Amino acid sequence: MSKIGLIGCGHISETYFRSQNYFNNINIVACADINIEAANKCAQEYNIEAKSVDELLADGEIDVVLNLTNPTSHYETIKKTLLSNKHSYCEKPLSISFEQGKELFDVANEKNLYLGNAPDTFLGGGGQLTKQIIDSGEVGEIKLGNFIFAFPGVQSWHPNPEPWFQEGGGPVLDMGPYFFTMLVNLLGSAKSVRAQATTVSEYREIGEGPKKGNKFKVEIPTSYMVVIEFNNKTKIQGFISFDVINHQRNHMEFYGTKGSIIGPDPNMFGGPILVSLREGGEWKEHSTENMKLGKTNIFNQSGRSNEAPTNANYRGVGLSEMIYSIENNKKHRCNGELALHVLDIIDSTILAAKTSKQTKMRTSCEKPRYFSEEEISSLIKS
Ligand SMILES: NC(=O)c1ccc[n+]([C@@H]2O[C@H](COP(=O)([O-])OP(=O)(O)OC[C@H]3O[C@@H](n4cnc5c(N)ncnc54)[C@H](O)[C@@H]3O)[C@@H](O)[C@H]2O)c1
Repeated sequence: MSKIGLIGCGHISETYFRSQNYFNNINIVACADINIEAANKCAQEYNIEAKSVDELLADGEIDVVLNLTNPTSHYETIKKTLLSNKHSYCEKPLSISFEQGKELFDVANEKNLYLGNAPDTFLGGGGQLTKQIIDSGEVGEIKLGNFIFAFPGVQSWHPNPEPWFQEGGGPVLDMGPYFFTMLVNLLGSAKSVRAQATTVSEYREIGEGPKKGNKFKVEIPTSYMVVIEFNNKTKIQGFISFDVINHQRNHMEFYGTKGSIIGPDPNMFGGPILVSLREGGEWKEHSTENMKLGKTNIFNQSGRSNEAPTNANYRGVGLSEMIYSIENNKKHRCNGELALHVLDIIDSTILAAKTSKQTKMRTSCEKPRYFSEEEISSLIKS
């Protein structure tokens, strides 16, 4: 079985250690962090070996690196991983700039190594059921739609919120990956984007921790309004914001020629999905509770990871599917082509807002294949 070395022992690592209980091929044997204390604590908690980053990368027994470092460290850590001849699976986004992402994609291809990237939430029951309904033709051809991610930002509870409000942070890099990957899963690749952005407050105040009460400067836009045109001609309007106290909109809605469909929260794995085929008509609910990666499995959130109190969270399935693909010589679903295209949408959105110009994508990718319950069965622990 593949041996995984984990780099970056922060908040989200708990979720990946938990994924070893769900999937039969996730085997984390060592961990590393620039913060040695964090690595030691993690090693002790999960009974694995703590190493320095260089030691971990030099370890010939480890063939896959799970990269859970901060987004600004993804490029450097993925590059080192690939140059150490190891497959890489990284948290979102692939990198913070398109050029860096393209370089990583090229290095992985040259070295014939797997480049995998989160998010894998589109592989969940919600994303797959929505895909199935759309592909069945029940709501006709999807022509239009919209999505929203909006909350007040992390400054009220995160002790170190500054990176979210500096270059390399912001709502599009942070939450865009979930929405854009889900859209590509449902509609295929994007063609172009238009966007406008704004910064609502010049300063934010830290609400928790040793720096409580300190104000810091907001250096980048905190709200984006976007219109993405897909290669299949569908137009999707989106709003991604760190400036909204509360709202009641659905995460994603799609409008087809025969009906409408309310999609899932692309940050999570479950449903339900709602379909209506008549103006003013009822909304038929499609549950994901009987789906392997849609069933609620979190009943009490730990407070350490990004989860609603009750939900389906099977983060790690993308890594599991990549390892299965390595072993069976297949193309994995959370692949570099998809991650680079999603990074292209992110980068193009930020550029389109800066220049007030429609921005064309530089890349394309295959629409991800449906992930059947049978395929999922071969990854799940019985
Ligand atoms: N926290 C969440 O809810 C959440 C959810 C989904 C995805 N993510 C993604 O997971 C990643 C990590 O997020 P987090 O919340 O766990 O962050 P975090 O800040 O809690 O942890 C990151 C860890 O990486 C270490 N690190 C940074 N640069 C490094 C380097 N060059 N080499 C070795 N170690 C390094 C840091 O010391 C830290 O311990 C990010 O890419 C984020 O986008 C986080």
